[in-house]
Amino acid sequence: MISAEQNDRMTRTGPGTPAGALLRRYWQPVALVEELEGERPLRPVRLLGQDLVLFRDDRGRVGLVDRDCPHRGADLAYGRLEHGGLRCPFHGWLFDVEGRLREAPAEPDNSPLLSRLRQGAYPVVERAGVFWGYLGPGEPPPFPALDPFVAPATHVFAFKGWIECNWLQALEVGIDPAHASFLHRFFEDEDPSAAYGRQFRSASSGSEIPMTRVMRECFRPQISVEPSEHGLRLTALREIDATRLHVRITNLVFPQAFVIPLSHDMAIMQFHVPIDDTHNYWYAFFTSFGVPVDKATMRAQRLELYELPDYRPRKHRGNGWGFDPYEQRTRTYTGMGEDINVHDQWAIESQGPIQDRTREHLATSDRAISANRRLLNRAIDTVERGGTPPGVLDPAAAAQLRGPVTVDGICAPEGWQRYWRDVDASRRAGCGWWVASGAPTSLVAPVGGAASAPPARPAEAGAAAPGRDGPADPRG
Ligand code: FES
Ligand SMILES: [Fe+2]
Repeated sequence: MISAEQNDRMTRTGPGTPAGALLRRYWQPVALVEELEGERPLRPVRLLGQDLVLFRDDRGRVGLVDRDCPHRGADLAYGRLEHGGLRCPFHGWLFDVEGRLREAPAEPDNSPLLSRLRQGAYPVVERAGVFWGYLGPGEPPPFPALDPFVAPATHVFAFKGWIECNWLQALEVGIDPAHASFLHRFFEDEDPSAAYGRQFRSASSGSEIPMTRVMRECFRPQISVEPSEHGLRLTALREIDATRLHVRITNLVFPQAFVIPLSHDMAIMQFHVPIDDTHNYWYAFFTSFGVPVDKATMRAQRLELYELPDYRPRKHRGNGWGFDPYEQRTRTYTGMGEDINVHDQWAIESQGPIQDRTREHLATSDRAISANRRLLNRAIDTVERGGTPPGVLDPAAAAQLRGPVTVDGICAPEGWQRYWRDVDASRRAGCGWWVASGAPTSLVAPVGGAASAPPARPAEAGAAAPGRDGPADPRG
């Protein structure tokens, strides 16, 4: 439980807010590249409570500018794309991608406005199928060399979806390993070979056991959380029987993304990007370490739930997220169909526009959520004091920030710490684009003293020191 003031401090991200100042220090996803395709490459976008226009000018340059015309405030989303810029239809003022006023046709030729006036404009780059904008002060930071930003275009697929709630509760569901055993429970398993592109439907690495069965039958994972170079590494251990242990390694990439396995060959990095304080978009990057991503199938699967042009879900609060009590009795835990995105969406949207954290009771399975809130509060404090928050790196450090490692597999209980490192290293060693990038295959330091010290049993490994990452005051 936290105070209303602490909750506001972490969740509100509009201009002038402490968390808004933090998030403005990072590149933010603005739109999918496919959104600027077509005859008129222009999209109005709302990001961190700011109204902006993303456009491609007739020379191919991409710009991100404030949406209200600096003359008398008309809406530039209705502007004309011509003469190397975006022209306001009200009085014909023309702005380039840098926000410079190039023409003001009703004004005298030597108008000082032409040299003085500047529309708010923000750096924008294209990476991994998405346009990213930088709304913060000074120079934007370099992009970290995380998997989706290193893999070739053939091996990364990006998509997005609209969520009707605050960004932080949406992110928190991604660092909550326990919920998968309940919220995403299916009473029967499918053939994992038909699981392409769908979460929790494939088999765990090194086994024929569907993830759905492991999640259903082993519902009390031992969860441990440790700091990592990205933010946090989460380990969830599920004891299947005396000889088999399910190991799931997931990550928080501070401050807005989580990274989880989709299958042996594919990982998902999902960002939660505030539209404003009560709406956010998820932007997911599906990165393949094996064959190229079947983007047509991935896109068609997601368009079953999401509608263009705003990528809003067809299931939402207005239709009870498709809730069917018969299905809830017989097939799924939620009664909301097979798509786990709907389950997550119900969970976080039903918490309210901004979850009232003065009424919550965090438990032992929420230790990653507590740990993330401590990171978040410290980073907000750092930015307030004029410092550099975690993840804003110099070029050398950004080039070194790789991965992260994410694994879902089954092994013998002894040596599980080495097991997941080896699974990831062999996946990278067999991945053409990874090898071509010249990076080492082992991204995580080997198990310390593994040769001499016996590996910890799952129960010991899962036991976090009280007060370190337990459900303590998130400001701790
Ligand atoms: S309001 Fe845009 S040019 Fe006048
Ligand atoms: Fe989920």
